Amino acid sequence: MELLNAARAVRDNAHAPYSGFKVGAALRAGSGRVYTGCNVENASYPEGTCAETGALAALVAAGETEITEVAIIADSPEPITPCGGCRQRLAEFGSGQVPITMATLSGDVKADTLGALLPGAFSSQNLSKG
Ligand code: THU
Repeated sequence: MELLNAARAVRDNAHAPYSGFKVGAALRAGSGRVYTGCNVENASYPEGTCAETGALAALVAAGETEITEVAIIADSPEPITPCGGCRQRLAEFGSGQVPITMATLSGDVKADTLGALLPGAFSSQNLSKG
């Protein structure tokens, strides 16, 4: 709940004038600290970034190397899942067991794991040659 409240609070700061779709994300790191991010859109549309990506950047910039829990919130009819790119970014720092809580502003909540959302993830282990 602490994580979801953090995601809800940071969502207010989202810069989403083009889609009108504000998203907030909060990550718990290995230290137990919480890092947050919101989506930041751009007039050059493809340059916008997701809430999860912003939260991840804050976590890494603080010197953290691990994600243990994720929460995402949007004002949507159903809880939203992280986009494909963000699933891959989260998988760089979190195991398949990492719980992901997805919620709507109206209080609908779903729970899943990173592994269930990104089965067969490409990882550093796949980079070894021949
Ligand atoms: N968005 C996120 O920030 N996170 C997600 O998990 C899905 C989509 C943002 C990107 C864009 O600014 C807006 O939501 C509409 O796609």
